[in-house]
Amino acid sequence: MSLELLEEQRESWGSRGGFILAAVGSAVGLGNLWGFPYKLYSYGGGAFLIPYIVALLLVGIPLMILEFSLGHYSQRAAPDAFKGVHKGFEVVGWWGIILGFVIVTYYPVVLAYCFSFLAYSITGMFNGGKLPWAGEGLEGVANAKNFFFQTYLGYHEGMRLGGIRWNIVLPLVVAWLSMYLCIFKGVRLVGKIVWLTVPLPWLMLLILTVRGLTLQGSMQGLAYYLDPVWSELAKPVTWRYAFGQVFFSLSLAFGVMITYASFLHRKSDINNNALIISLADFATSFIAGLAVFATLGGMAFVTQQAGNPVPVENVAEGGPSLAFVAFPYALAQLPYSAYFSFVFFFALITLGIDSAFSITESVLASIVDKTGWHRNIVLPVMSIIGFAFGLIYITKGGLNWLGAIDGFVNGTRGITLLGMLECIVLGWLWRIGTLRRHANSRSDWKVGKWWDYMIRLVIPILLGILFFWQLFEDMNNETGFLRTPQGRWIPENCIGVAVLVLAPVIAIVLSLLKDRRGNIVLPHKEQDLETKARFGGLVALTSALVPTVQYIISLNIDISPSIKNTILWILPIGGAITIVLSSYILEKYNTSTTQASWPARWAGVIATMNVSMFIAAILFDLTGKAEIHEIKTPANHELTGVSYIILAVVFLIIVGGLGWCFYRAIATTSKFDGPQSPDEIGDSEEQQS
Ligand code: PHE
Repeated sequence: MSLELLEEQRESWGSRGGFILAAVGSAVGLGNLWGFPYKLYSYGGGAFLIPYIVALLLVGIPLMILEFSLGHYSQRAAPDAFKGVHKGFEVVGWWGIILGFVIVTYYPVVLAYCFSFLAYSITGMFNGGKLPWAGEGLEGVANAKNFFFQTYLGYHEGMRLGGIRWNIVLPLVVAWLSMYLCIFKGVRLVGKIVWLTVPLPWLMLLILTVRGLTLQGSMQGLAYYLDPVWSELAKPVTWRYAFGQVFFSLSLAFGVMITYASFLHRKSDINNNALIISLADFATSFIAGLAVFATLGGMAFVTQQAGNPVPVENVAEGGPSLAFVAFPYALAQLPYSAYFSFVFFFALITLGIDSAFSITESVLASIVDKTGWHRNIVLPVMSIIGFAFGLIYITKGGLNWLGAIDGFVNGTRGITLLGMLECIVLGWLWRIGTLRRHANSRSDWKVGKWWDYMIRLVIPILLGILFFWQLFEDMNNETGFLRTPQGRWIPENCIGVAVLVLAPVIAIVLSLLKDRRGNIVLPHKEQDLETKARFGGLVALTSALVPTVQYIISLNIDISPSIKNTILWILPIGGAITIVLSSYILEKYNTSTTQASWPARWAGVIATMNVSMFIAAILFDLTGKAEIHEIKTPANHELTGVSYIILAVVFLIIVGGLGWCFYRAIATTSKFDGPQSPDEIGDSEEQQS
């Protein structure tokens, strides 16, 4: 089936704005208002911005461009898009979709909490402003904790489920129903709904930020948020959280952005949209943090004045506590608490809902693309299944399940592995140049050849380091990973591993099922290979595999450390040689009319993994096996000069970056008012290949 034909059948976003907002809506979610601020606070304050910005620039934005161009090029949701590359890679698409589905079983549960707390706030508004968790001083904090964990969740420790909390069932139904209503009509309506669900939370955030910053004592709070603790940068966990957060926050690796881009109009921009969306997401996270911590500072000040001081560090804890204990408590100390509490939970709901339905949509589109079933049937069935899984998390032990599963899927074990696979498949095993030309031919600005190397080398190596680093730690964990040394199973890790192992298994099964629809094959011609390329590929494969095999054997036998060390160093040396060789073969033969040999491609993949493994092993040795983590307490409670510089730099990146994007968008539109020639040139270039 030709691409043009597909395009005619496929629905599309109404406008460029509709797409940008929908993608921003997916990216900007609970991760921004709740995940980012507490991660930044817990892992080094302003110092955390360094790994975060590195991750955003080196991995986040290039990958966003990659996912957009793949979705746009193939006009299909993730599994079929990967299938277009090669039959065998459909599984990579499904893998992401399944992990996305896992997220969409618990994400609406958090939305359900928000609906409940919104209802409490509304009742409060009519109740003379009294919120049920209000209380004074440190005792008040304990009350607020008690309210969320005991009164609301009926929480108990451990993985025993206990009974379902019936008070959360209705809010969960409301969450799923709202998601359903947003997407049941298809993406064109989504493109309209997001004109509401994206600006609205921004407005709410603006209200909270202005109000927070004008509170007395707000700077105290900002000091907790921004004052850097540089030593945190030496801890691996800081880097892992930064990378994980970038992935989760930008909705990457779960097929969401691929799917959304598949609904884009043929002539739509790709690169500039990707940059706008990524920067908007970062801006929202950062500003959300300002709102949260300024308010906490205000709370600290008020309680000091009342002679019953509650310092920021006594309330600011990680995880769900920030949104459902610390912030509600802080609001309760301040005037008009019920109204601002309403604003806060309303912001969370509007932020979260479009992220949640973006995952549903990508799962839905994948199933519809594969089976040809009607979305009016698939969506309700899927929603009911998602809801049913959600019941697990609204039991008494449910929050622990949520934490365990989220930790795996969304951490370095799940998300980064998938991101790495994506880059490997598209960078080494296919022709990344084709995607680049496709994106460039219709974008406001172009990415250079450097981007190919980001996808092929830099990103897989970086993500590979994180993945292997985690693996080495898990394997060396003295208290055991799946079982303690005493032989007791560790249920939270077992559940997490089970989910991670099941995902590819289900993905393989799904990819083996026959497509009901016509297959899509992304245009490429294969011609006979030259003997030279074949021979070169075999040489490269040998030089990649020998060090790997040696290394793995050396890990499992008893030999002297010096020999072990030598073997370790062969990894990067062999790796570098192989990378150069395979890159050369790919550049020379992997063109639009010929294909490089498979041995050459796989050699490249293995070599990049070797380099990652080597760096991870070195880092693991350097940082030691123990992972101590203490929450920072800045020495002084005023914003330091460094923090002002940090603030200025972040604002420069955000305002300057977005300003540049809009400038490029406007400049290009006015230049191409006539016939859309660049697109046509671009398309004909693609068609030749
Ligand atoms: N990006 C969303 C957030 O920050 C979550 C999300 C993850 C949405 C993955 C879609 C896919 O909350």
